[in-house]
Amino acid sequence: MALSNTNTTIDYAFDARHIWHPYTSMTQALPVYGVVSAQGCELTLDSGEVLIDGTSSWWSCVHGYSHPTILAAMQKQLTQLSHVMFGGITHQPAIEVSKRLVQMTSANLTKVFLADSGSIAVEVALKMALQYWQGRNKPQKQRIMTVKSGYHGDTFAAMSVCDPDGGMHTMFGNNVTKQVFIPAPTSKFNEPLNQTDITALENAFSQHHQDIAAVIIEPIMQGAGAMRFYSPAYLVKLRLLCDQYNVLLILDEIATGFGRTGTLFAYEHANIEADILCVGKALTGGYISLAATLCSDEVANGISDSPAGVFMHGPTFMGNPLACAAATASLDLLLQGDWQQQVSAIEVQLKQELARAIDLTQVQDVRVLGAVGVIEMVNNVNAAQLQQAFVELGVWVRPFNKYIYIMPPYTINAAQLTRLTSAMISVAGSIEDSGNKQQFISHG
Ligand SMILES: Cc1ncc(COP(=O)(O)O)c(C=O)c1O
Repeated sequence: MALSNTNTTIDYAFDARHIWHPYTSMTQALPVYGVVSAQGCELTLDSGEVLIDGTSSWWSCVHGYSHPTILAAMQKQLTQLSHVMFGGITHQPAIEVSKRLVQMTSANLTKVFLADSGSIAVEVALKMALQYWQGRNKPQKQRIMTVKSGYHGDTFAAMSVCDPDGGMHTMFGNNVTKQVFIPAPTSKFNEPLNQTDITALENAFSQHHQDIAAVIIEPIMQGAGAMRFYSPAYLVKLRLLCDQYNVLLILDEIATGFGRTGTLFAYEHANIEADILCVGKALTGGYISLAATLCSDEVANGISDSPAGVFMHGPTFMGNPLACAAATASLDLLLQGDWQQQVSAIEVQLKQELARAIDLTQVQDVRVLGAVGVIEMVNNVNAAQLQQAFVELGVWVRPFNKYIYIMPPYTINAAQLTRLTSAMISVAGSIEDSGNKQQFISHG
C-alpha cells in the first residue's frame, strides 16, 4: 500500500476501508470531502474548491480557522511543554485558563475540572452531583432528571440524559441508565412561561425529588436534539424548583457557551446560576479538544465530605497544557474582541435573509437566535444528498434530521453569510421542487 505523507493528497480508498467517521457504517460508506487547509471562514478541499463554513466545525471554531493569535500561543506552548501529567503536577497554562473561566462565569462557580471533551465534562458533572449527595448523607439521590429532546454527548451517562426517543437508549438496552424525563419546554424564547411547562416541571419535582441528584439541561437552546430555543422564564422556574426541592442544577453550555446565543453564556438570558456548569467546544476556539466542568464551593465541599473523600475522576490528558494555551488565547480574543457586536450583526442578517424560507411548502419553521439560524423542514432530509448540493454551491452546511441550520464563525463577513443563507434557501427549496418527499427522507 502506498503511503503518502503529503497533506494535500487524500487517500480516500484507505479512509473508506479503515477509518470510522461520526455515525457511519463501514459497509455502506457515505461520501467524505477531503479538506487540506482552512483559513478564516473558508475550508479548502483537495480539489481546490473553497467552501464557506457554516458549521464552525460543529460549533467550536468561533474565531475562524488559523487565527494567528491562537496559532502563536499554541506554537509557543508546543515547544515549551506540550504535555505533562496533571496528577501531582500543575502548570501555568491550566491556571491561566481556569482563572479566566472562574472570572467569566457566575460568581458562585469557583472550582474547575479540566476535562478532555464535552461528553467527559458531562460525565464529570453527573459524577459530581452523585458524590455531592453522598457527602450530604442523602445517598438515595442517585437519579438524574432532564428534559426530552436534549443532547449531552455520546458516552454512557451522557447518552442516558439525551432524548429517550431520538437518542441512543434503545440501541444499548439496559446499559443506559434509566433517568427521569420531563416533557421538552414548549414556551418559546420570546414568550413567557406557559402553564403546560409550569405543570410539567412542578409535577416532575414533586413526584421524583427524593431520588433526584440533579437536573441537567442545555440552557435556552436545545442543540443537537432539536435545534430550538426556549423561554428564559423556563430556566428561572427550574432554578426555583431545584432550590425548593434540594436538587442540583447542571447547565450544559457546551454548545451555547462563549457567545453563541448573544450572551457570553446562555444562562445570562435568565439571570440564573448553575451549581455545576459544563463548557467545551468553543473553549479552545475549536483548535484542539478541551472542556471543563465548574462547580460551586458547596458542591466541592459536599464531594470532599463523601465517603471517597476525593472527586473520583482523573483522565490521562487532564489539563493538557497545549489545549489550555489554545483556550487561554481563544478566551482572551473573546474578552478583548467585539464578539457581541459580531453575533448581533449575524443575528440581524440571519433574521432578514432566512425569513422568506417560511414560504417554502416543505419548511415547517424558521428560527434564529444569536449566531444560530435554523430552517426546520417538514420531513427528515437526506443529509448526504443535501451535503453534496451545498458543496456544489460552495458552502459547508451539514443538515441532520429535519434541520438545515448554520452556526458560523463569529468572524464571518456579510457577503459570506449571504452565500450561506442563499444556499440554505435554495437547497430547502429544491426539496420542495422535487415534488417527491420520499426522495429526501433519511433512512439512516
Ligand atoms: C450540549 C452538548 N453537550 C455535550 C456535547 C458533547 O460534546 P463532545 O462532542 O465534545 O463530546 C455536545 C456536542 O454536540 C453538546 O452539544
